Amino acid sequence: MLSAVERKIEQFIADLDDKEVAAQYGKLPQGKRLRAKLILKIAGNRLSVVKTAAIVEMIHAASLLHDDVIDDAYTRRNKPSLNALYGNKTAIMFGDVLYSKGFLELNNISSEVAKIVSGAVVKLSLGELKDVSLSKTFNLNKEIYLEMIYQKTASLMEASAGAAAVLAGKPKEAYLVYGRNLGLAFQMIDDLLDITSDSETLGKPALHDFAEGKTTLPYIYLYEVLNSEDQKKLASLHAKELSREEQAWIMQNMEEHQILLKCYAQAKELIDEAVELMNEKGEEALSSIAEEMIDRNF
Ligand code: FPP
Ligand code: MG
Repeated sequence: MLSAVERKIEQFIADLDDKEVAAQYGKLPQGKRLRAKLILKIAGNRLSVVKTAAIVEMIHAASLLHDDVIDDAYTRRNKPSLNALYGNKTAIMFGDVLYSKGFLELNNISSEVAKIVSGAVVKLSLGELKDVSLSKTFNLNKEIYLEMIYQKTASLMEASAGAAAVLAGKPKEAYLVYGRNLGLAFQMIDDLLDITSDSETLGKPALHDFAEGKTTLPYIYLYEVLNSEDQKKLASLHAKELSREEQAWIMQNMEEHQILLKCYAQAKELIDEAVELMNEKGEEALSSIAEEMIDRNF
């Protein structure tokens, strides 16, 4: 079923009748298509559903194109990012093309779906802005971190599940909670993998977030349990290129204080709630997506 979404994206790109854009699309590392999977599992494979899934994936791809420019990231999913291949200007404009074509097509779906998806894109942008400004400080506020990842990542998954429920004529509330929890847990796991995975598995440099200034949940929890001398040391390493010794010091403390387990457990709680909600509705396939997501290693 996902192949129908790939074909639809290709058709949307072909509509643009632009060789350069077609070539750029060919270089785009294909993602997990998690959002499209959710939409199809909730709403089936009618044309309007496939189109909505394609639109959401195009918007998501656009946001990652911009994000890689913002984050100075030169690899994505083990392949060179578009900014690495073509430079920032092209990557940004190609993102704009994907994003605006997605919005053009969104007009052909129902106005309720259009409202849900475009509302999420506003949140996505606010979340990315928050991520950038938080990276300039050593943020120790867990609530602010959670609000940022809700906006930056969970909002589009929430909207995907909600929009799909609307298309399927199902009451959307439980699906919105499912998508939101899945998105929050997804970003929490993403932030954990930045610490636990080697760069080859991850497809991008490991322990990169903290060097970039991102005080993700594991760092917030670690700071809370360190003595004041070690708290000062951790703060002094924020937003710096770390030496091997400094990386090892962070890892050793994360292990000693079981920080990664604590973060995983918090993500798992969100997934358990999502699974319970979907099992109640007889949506076991959606429960499986949530369970597989939390145990991924990339
Ligand atoms: C990845 O975060 C970034 C996002 C999920 C959202 C990015 C959103 C924007 C750039 C704003 C919206 C823009 C458009 C065109 C719709 P990350 O850096 O933590 O994850 P990563 O490790 O995958 O890079
Ligand atoms: Mg990034």
